[in-house]
Amino acid sequence: MHMPPTNPRAAWLHAARQPLRVDQAPRTAPGRGEVLVRNRAVAINPFDGIVQSLGGLVTPWLRYPAVLGSDLAGEVLAVGPGVRRLVPGDRVLGLALGVEKAANRPVEGAFQECVILREACVARIPPDLSFEQAAVLPLAFATAACGLFLSEHLGLRRPSPDPASLARGESVLVWGAATSVGSCAVQLAAAAGYRVIATCSAHNFEHARSLGATACVDYHDPAAAARVVEAIGGSALAGVLCVAVGAGDACIDVAGRCAGPRRVAMASTPVSLVDAPLEAQFRWKLGRLPRLALGFARLALRARLRGVRTSSIWGTSVIHDPRGARLFEDFLEPALASGRFQAAPRPLVTGMGLDAIPEAMRRLARGVSASKVVVSLPGSVSAPDSPQDPAPEYTRASAP
Ligand SMILES: NC(=O)c1ccc[n+]([C@@H]2O[C@H](COP(=O)([O-])OP(=O)(O)OC[C@H]3O[C@@H](n4cnc5c(N)ncnc54)[C@H](OP(=O)(O)O)[C@@H]3O)[C@@H](O)[C@H]2O)c1
Repeated sequence: MHMPPTNPRAAWLHAARQPLRVDQAPRTAPGRGEVLVRNRAVAINPFDGIVQSLGGLVTPWLRYPAVLGSDLAGEVLAVGPGVRRLVPGDRVLGLALGVEKAANRPVEGAFQECVILREACVARIPPDLSFEQAAVLPLAFATAACGLFLSEHLGLRRPSPDPASLARGESVLVWGAATSVGSCAVQLAAAAGYRVIATCSAHNFEHARSLGATACVDYHDPAAAARVVEAIGGSALAGVLCVAVGAGDACIDVAGRCAGPRRVAMASTPVSLVDAPLEAQFRWKLGRLPRLALGFARLALRARLRGVRTSSIWGTSVIHDPRGARLFEDFLEPALASGRFQAAPRPLVTGMGLDAIPEAMRRLARGVSASKVVVSLPGSVSAPDSPQDPAPEYTRASAP
């Protein structure tokens, strides 16, 4: 097995509310159905910062030290027994499950140089797709697929290479089409033959249209929900995917006013958790957690009054559904190869190396628009169209 000459390194989280510390990681050989991947780029998700600061609350099962991170792209170094599709040298993207309850082991977290992935959560990527571009996809793709296709959420038709043959004139609303999850959801729903109504800022209409949206509405418009209902027109609304903090009320209102099954799948919470501080959390929790609980209660009441069924998405749960997990292999890999699926939104590369991850997490917490914060790992080659953050700060994580 070809392994890097020195032990690989990881960005370790030794306990909730601690800074990440870059230090050596043990070498691990892939087990049955697993592959070992040399990481070339990782993307940052809001969830990473939430687990770091609120781990005891949102991931109480998490064993420490832990390695965070869900999104990566790199090269396969070795494959375990039973792996049939991948071979060393393959360029891949992968969904890392280190923080997932069913895995809960650091070697499966993305924020390290060598990571163990499960074959079902890996897709090979075409030669013209950079690792930075590919890394934006895994968790967003899984979350969008989970919300759109699993029966406990919207239970929509699966995508096909020939979406026109599936088209029945029904609409799907993606509220938050410029998010990473929304960018995948627009493409997946369009590939399944639905008319996609998208909400985003006006400057991202072109982004949403390029992914397959039929109509776009600016969510800043106080009458946005009414505009969405207008855009849906007489078509049946097959489902609503809500991917924006605080947008649940509007999504429930739209679902309640349109013909169709009145279902809303929610990827986001009613209030934001991304700004939870690492230290002195008491005041923050005192202000935020009651608002969170009230927000959920208000959404439940609103849904009940309007006859709408809501569900909360846990994106990685798609891998526990046999048909869901196969979407990486059966849909994403061939669709990327043929150009039917875009690696969107664009990567915003904020630094290089594991030491750059803490600043990348802070960069994401300040907010992005139709882009995903990405950190390159040594050996990675940036694609010419991967923009660099205008003012990157290469701060070191705390010393190992
Ligand atoms: N449940 C899960 O398993 C799961 C998994 C992944 C992500 N998430 C959640 O999904 C959400 C999106 O995360 P992400 O990483 O995909 O994207 P992101 O990068 O956090 O999203 C940024 C985008 O949000 C859009 N946005 C902000 N407020 C909005 C609103 N009220 N209506 C519509 N769009 C709005 C902005 O659009 P414009 O630029 O057009 O203004 C911006 O481009 C987060 O809340 C995240 O925690 C959940």
